[in-house]
This record gives sequence, C-alpha cells and structure tokens, in this order.
Amino acid sequence: MNPFEERKKQEEARQAAIKMTMGSIKHIIAVGSGKGGVGKSTVAANLAIALAAKGYKVGLADADVYGPSLPTLFNINKAEILATNVEGRELMLPVERLGVKLMSIGFMVDTQSPLIWRGPMASNALTQLLSETYWGELDFLILDMPPGTGDIQLTLVQTFHPSGSIFVCTPQQLAVADVRRAINMFEDDQIAVPTLGLVENMAYFTPEELPNNKYYIFGKDGGMKLAEELKVNFLGQIPISCSISEANDKGTPVAANPDSVECKAFLELADKVVARLN
Ligand SMILES: Nc1ncnc2c1ncn2[C@@H]1O[C@H](COP(=O)(O)OP(=O)(O)OP(=O)(O)O)[C@@H](O)[C@H]1O
Ligand SMILES: [Mg+2]
Repeated sequence: MNPFEERKKQEEARQAAIKMTMGSIKHIIAVGSGKGGVGKSTVAANLAIALAAKGYKVGLADADVYGPSLPTLFNINKAEILATNVEGRELMLPVERLGVKLMSIGFMVDTQSPLIWRGPMASNALTQLLSETYWGELDFLILDMPPGTGDIQLTLVQTFHPSGSIFVCTPQQLAVADVRRAINMFEDDQIAVPTLGLVENMAYFTPEELPNNKYYIFGKDGGMKLAEELKVNFLGQIPISCSISEANDKGTPVAANPDSVECKAFLELADKVVARLN
C-alpha cells in the first residue's frame, strides 16, 4: 500500500470509530468566545442542565484541556470513570450528573498541576477523549470550548462538525474584533458551522431580595448591539449573581435549582437554541 492509500485508510478507520461512539448524537453545539473568562463554561453547563430539564438527552464535553471546568462545576473527581467494551473496543462511559452525560480530561488528570502539552498533542488527546467516550443516543452534545481561535478549536470543529455555535460575551468585553475572529473561524467556507447566536453573560445584576429589579451596571443592551453589528442572532442575557458563582463552586450549577430566577434565564436560552436549530 502506498503512503497515500495508507493515510486514507487510517482516516477512514478514524471516521468509522468516531461514527460508532458519536453517530447517535443529533446536534453538537459548540460554546465559544473571543476572550477567556466570559462564562463559556458556566453557560455551557447551565444550558446543558436546562436542556436536560426539558426532557432532551444531553451530553456536555469539556474541550478545554488546559483549564478543564467540569470537575469543579459538577464536583467530580478522578476514578469515577468506568470503562465498557463495545464491539471489541474499550470505551469510556461518561459520568452522569443532573441528567447530563459529562466527560472531561480533568476527570483523569490532576487539575492542580499544569498540562504541558503542545497544540497538536492537546488536539489529539481531546479528539481521542471525545471519540472514545460512549455517548449513546443524544439530542445535544454541548462542547465547552477553550477561548480563542487556535489550533485546538480548529481541529475540534473540523473533526466533529457541530450543528451550530454559540458565542458568549460580557458587557465589559464587547470588543467586536475578538468575537468576529471566533465567528469567522466557525463560519469559514471549509468549516461552515452556522452561528446560532450571541449570549450576553453577566449582563445585569438582580439582588436576591428584589428579584424583579435589573441593574445594568455595565450599561444596557451592549450584547444586543454587538450582535447587530456582527449580524448574528441575539440569544439573550444572563444576569451576574452570587447564586451563579456559588452554585458553580459547589458543584451544582444554578440551572438545577428550578426556583431560582437564574434558572429561568437558562431555560429561556435553551428554548431559543432549540428554536434556532429547528
Ligand atoms: N453570570 C455569572 N454570575 C456570576 N459569576 C459568574 C457568571 N458567569 C461566570 N461566572 C464566574 O466567572 C468565572 C469565569 O466563568 P467561566 O469559567 O464560566 O468562564 P470561561 O469563559 O469558561 O473561562 P475560560 O476562558 O477560562 O474557559 C467563574 O468563577 C464563574 O463562576
Ligand atoms: Mg471555560
């Protein structure tokens, strides 16, 4: 076999392997941003929980190898990963919490020490992690992306072909250029992942004792204006609140608490995402 044929065969085998573990996923949705720390992981986790609460079968994959968030967000430590054998392949089973199937590299390695992987190594590890997880039938697999538009993001979208992408911004970080770059990468002709829309996180503050008051500390409607400027759909606002950050730190994201106002915001986001996909 010449090297080209060999390469082609390898790629076919890889695609077949991915099809087996991920072929029953209806929609993969990537949650990205131009900048770090805007709340992608928070939005991804709460969106996943909100979709599961609506009766969908949902998975959530941590695509951030350098700063995995799912171990903290769902209070999962090492040694909870179980293996299964499917058609002679040894596969990992996702960990299930709050109705969502979860997988993160942080479930396997010590999250306290830094991972010193170069780009291609990290991309390979991630691709392997996601495609060697036995996801089963899912309506949605949410991908919590690392910030920016590097090699890892590119490999992920090229390998897993998301049905759509969601971008997160905050009122303090409304730099058009950063979000534009991220959107451009996904919408590039060769990748062609449609943008479902922009979410403005930490958009306003609501005190617990006055749940109907909204204080726009950093200015109102910045996210909506940014969406207009970028010519993308606006998916709504998520408040900044202690409940959100405390719930994150406790390992039970706020969307799991149906009585909270924050949960309502994520349920509305889930409705909009589903509507955009249909
Ligand atoms: N709406 C919110 N209200 C209060 N705190 C929030 C909110 N959204 C996010 N946070 C907090 O802000 C911090 C950053 O959030 P998160 O980790 O979700 O951001 P990220 O965009 O995923 O970051 P990274 O780029 O590092 O992956 C976390 O401590 C989180 O608990
Ligand atoms: Mg994150």
